[in-house]
Amino acid sequence: MNILLLGSGGREHALAWKIAQSARVDHLFIAPGNAGTRAVGTNVPLKVNDFEGIRAFVLANAIDMVVVGPEDPLVNGIVDFFRADSSIARIPVIGPSAAGARLEGSKDFAKEFMMRHNIPTARHRTFTPETVAEGEAFLETLAAPYVLKADGLCAGKGVLIIDNLDEAKRELREMIGGMFGGASARVVVEEFLSGIECSVFVLTDGTHYKILPEAKDYKRIGEGDRGLNTGGMGSVSPVPFADEAWMRKVEDRIVRPTVEGLKAEGIDYRGFIFCGLINVGGDPMVIEYNCRMGDPETESVMLRIKSDLVDLLEGVAEGDLDTRPLEVDERHAVCVMLVSGGYPGNYPKGFKMRNIDVEGSVVFHAGTAIDGDGDVVTAGGRVIAVSSYGATRAEALARSMSGAERIEFEGKYYRRDIGKDLAS
Ligand code: AMP
Ligand code: GLY
Repeated sequence: MNILLLGSGGREHALAWKIAQSARVDHLFIAPGNAGTRAVGTNVPLKVNDFEGIRAFVLANAIDMVVVGPEDPLVNGIVDFFRADSSIARIPVIGPSAAGARLEGSKDFAKEFMMRHNIPTARHRTFTPETVAEGEAFLETLAAPYVLKADGLCAGKGVLIIDNLDEAKRELREMIGGMFGGASARVVVEEFLSGIECSVFVLTDGTHYKILPEAKDYKRIGEGDRGLNTGGMGSVSPVPFADEAWMRKVEDRIVRPTVEGLKAEGIDYRGFIFCGLINVGGDPMVIEYNCRMGDPETESVMLRIKSDLVDLLEGVAEGDLDTRPLEVDERHAVCVMLVSGGYPGNYPKGFKMRNIDVEGSVVFHAGTAIDGDGDVVTAGGRVIAVSSYGATRAEALARSMSGAERIEFEGKYYRRDIGKDLAS
């Protein structure tokens, strides 16, 4: 079969790497892809939100399945676009309809969904320009720190965590006043939850589901989880506290009610559900949902899936995911992200990269491109991810560290402490 994968980051390179291993695949296209995805498929210069262009490409290249990496096209309705057009309606798109993508696209919708289905999450209320004063009063009922979330998509920047009550009130007014444009015209205010986070990934065909290996990501730029938030500086899988008993709670209290809730509400959801969880005194609670895989979690999780991913995706498309095996590799995987100097602030790009293919690790490109000389150059904040297996997390980290040292580009920065906070 021919597959078109949409996206261009490390997540997409990891998905492409895994898809390309399937004997079922004749041709894999990645749109737009990056300098790394060329090694496992054919890059196509198409934007992920260019639905008309995607339709033309799918028809011209006999594409049998579309896999959507990032959230944007899903929130914008790419699944609905395919379903509504008779020339492409039969082609499965892995990802939810726009209604399902609201789990990520609207924090307010996600919170209300969790309330309707008794899924554990932080106590919250949603406020609008008309109810700012009530929002301030609600903040007074909470203890510091205060969590404010823009309702809509803000490229990962829409959550503020503030220690001081007066500042929280001020920020609430500013958010509702347009700090993030229309995305923050509604703001969710919620109770702060204290615990360690864990990302749990679910693949569903709308009725059945498989829980993929869990992972933990490291969002802050600095070692010891200090400094500014980034898109993610590394990830590990498995996560030690996510043992069988904890994962049973996750399945019973969160995954099953989520899949059943979507179905009961008549929402067409055939794709990945990313449950951003926090472990509060041994109990999992939902911080957020995303309608896609995580980045850089995918760069660890794909290493741990032994089964044919395309077989699982076909199960999603055909509604018989329950008959498709999911075999997990027991080894540890650790991903270390190499970023451009200056990131997550401003940074220069276009630097030539050397020694990219390191032995003993799997290297996933994120922000890379090919320059006029045909050389690989930096093209983003998060540049390249080094993922490795190990019998222990420490061994996997050591391998990724030696790979991270070898890869060269001007301004290279990475964290050396990925996974070191966790018990072994
Ligand atoms: P989100 O964009 O929803 O992933 O939120 C960004 C980050 O803010 C999360 O990964 C958490 O680290 C943190 N966060 C969000 N909501 C809460 C909460 N209720 N309590 C504690 N931390 C939170
Ligand atoms: N690593 C978190 C995310 O992909 O949103």
